[in-house]
Amino acid sequence: MTGFIGAVSVVIGGASGIGAAIAERFAKEGATVVVADIDDDGATARATAMGAPAWAHAVQVTAESSVGRLFDEVAAKEGRLDCVINCAGVNSVAAITDMDAADWQRVVDVSLTGAFLVVKQAALHMTGTGSIITIGSLNARQPAAGMSAYCAAKAGVSMLTEVAALELGPRGIRVNAISPGLVDTPLVGPLFAIPGMQAEFLDNTPLGRIGTPDDIADAALFLSASQSWITGETLNVNGGAHTRRYPDVLTSLQRSAAR
Ligand SMILES: NC(=O)c1ccc[n+]([C@@H]2O[C@H](COP(=O)([O-])OP(=O)(O)OC[C@H]3O[C@@H](n4cnc5c(N)ncnc54)[C@H](O)[C@@H]3O)[C@@H](O)[C@H]2O)c1
Repeated sequence: MTGFIGAVSVVIGGASGIGAAIAERFAKEGATVVVADIDDDGATARATAMGAPAWAHAVQVTAESSVGRLFDEVAAKEGRLDCVINCAGVNSVAAITDMDAADWQRVVDVSLTGAFLVVKQAALHMTGTGSIITIGSLNARQPAAGMSAYCAAKAGVSMLTEVAALELGPRGIRVNAISPGLVDTPLVGPLFAIPGMQAEFLDNTPLGRIGTPDDIADAALFLSASQSWITGETLNVNGGAHTRRYPDVLTSLQRSAAR
């Protein structure tokens, strides 16, 4: 796919995992990529490895002033903003009755409020048409015991995406979500460490494999194509896992802790 030559893309959460793969893919397609992350060193290392014209910027998605500063810097340096992909997200596993309110708040702040602030500030800084992609999850539609905050936040991201598409469509700004299934990244290291968990995920995935960050980068590239007529969509990229059921993470975790 072409069409990214000269385009400016900002990948938030671009230092690691899915965001890093998207940043690299967009750069290969000819975009100027800004790698933004709370992990400043990680973002800088990623942008340096990609080489010019990529550059890095530190951002905390839960702080509107920080998100605003990121896009101010992009406007000052590049003079345009075409694509924004927000991959920042965190998880926490505990039964509702065991979950601290502070832990709930942290997950919702980063994964949902962060998505809202990114969409808002991206839309305020896009002067022409553009594409905004949020990252939801299989857990936006499939409940997982022990992941109440994450599931609730990601379901919120899907609806935020639809409302944003509705409001921003008249300006030619398209807003779509990608909902990945289990993808091998640092975020899911703790899940992978639970005995039997990978096998249970595979049993519930018709295509029979765990996802890769590149699978998600493929989808991001497809949704960002400049002439696309797609907006307000949540694209499931999960090997068909949404057709089956989510593994019982909480019971497996409790069993492995009791061993
Ligand atoms: N890996 C999976 O199986 C999976 C499945 C479904 C959805 N997702 C979603 O995909 C997205 C990317 O996750 P990943 O698996 O690549 O994880 P990851 O941990 O490898 O990457 C997440 C990145 O977000 C950054 N980040 C975290 N909090 C931030 C904040 N407050 N401000 C700015 N940056 C912040 C981290 O520093 C990290 O670089 C997340 O939204 C996650 O919820 C992942």
